[in-house]
Amino acid sequence: MSEVEKLKLELKALGKEYSKIKDLPPKERGEFGRKINQQKQTLLAKIKQAEEAAESEEIEPLDVSAPAAPNQPIFRPQLGTRHPLMVELDRVTAIYSDMGFNVMESTQLDDEFHMFDSLNFAKEHPARDGYDTFRTREGFIPPAHTSTMQHRALKKYKRLLDGDGQIAVVMPGRVFRNEDADATHEHTFYQCEGVFVSKDATMGRLFGVLKRFFELYYGEKLNLKTQPGYFPFTEPSAEFLIEKPASLGGKGWLEMGGCGMIHPNVLKTAGIDSEVYRGFAWGGGIDRLAMLKYDLPDVRYFESGKLEFLEEY
Ligand code: DAH
Repeated sequence: MSEVEKLKLELKALGKEYSKIKDLPPKERGEFGRKINQQKQTLLAKIKQAEEAAESEEIEPLDVSAPAAPNQPIFRPQLGTRHPLMVELDRVTAIYSDMGFNVMESTQLDDEFHMFDSLNFAKEHPARDGYDTFRTREGFIPPAHTSTMQHRALKKYKRLLDGDGQIAVVMPGRVFRNEDADATHEHTFYQCEGVFVSKDATMGRLFGVLKRFFELYYGEKLNLKTQPGYFPFTEPSAEFLIEKPASLGGKGWLEMGGCGMIHPNVLKTAGIDSEVYRGFAWGGGIDRLAMLKYDLPDVRYFESGKLEFLEEY
């Protein structure tokens, strides 16, 4: 039994003494009552003291032998931060969104139809091998590019076309390629795809959208150029390059992605009348954008999980 409990029992016993007062001769009652009161006060004081002592016992005494660094916190709180690629991805979609594009996130597991058939890759066409796709045992494909989203976007938004409407959507997402990694190639990276359809879409407007995007992203005027390319889902197809922004040294051209006028077969497969509507599409890597912006020498940092890198950016 604790000290406090013992004292409280004593107090209870003392309480019974009060009932004896009425049995005493009247002369003695006053004296007896005073005594009991005194004892009660003493007991109450002791209880209070014992309770305080018990409370302070629960606090662990300081280990004064431990090494002390009084001006340093014992541990530095490690608050997490967003991954630099996620920060860039948000900036990219925010820019397109301000330009009037809807945003749709791409899938991370896809199928043969969205990866190839819906994109006008002929059956057995060697271009199918050009994408170094991974495949699951069940035959699913972790997408090798965000173009796998084109068919979905066209179908989802085609109701907006009625009459003189338009489809304007960008699709950021994670993509995977079964190839050897080096400083400029990684098996897992991010792309952003864009699709625009209307009655009057042209290559000229496509280049306008691209130039505007890159200027907003790097915050300065820059030059864009294209060179011929081949993609089964666009006709004509092109590759687009930007001139390195002046603030980043400004020398040379950097290939940023592929683009072109959406092939009529791609529109038709999504149920859009390719005699009435035309569209353009483009896609490019996000990692590459960010590498240039931060002057990073190696793309593999992004997926490395290295804390030193993540803390720096
Ligand atoms: N998906 C292509 C790639 O990853 C890039 C691309 C080319 C996207 C042409 C497009 C396009 O939308 O029209 O290599």
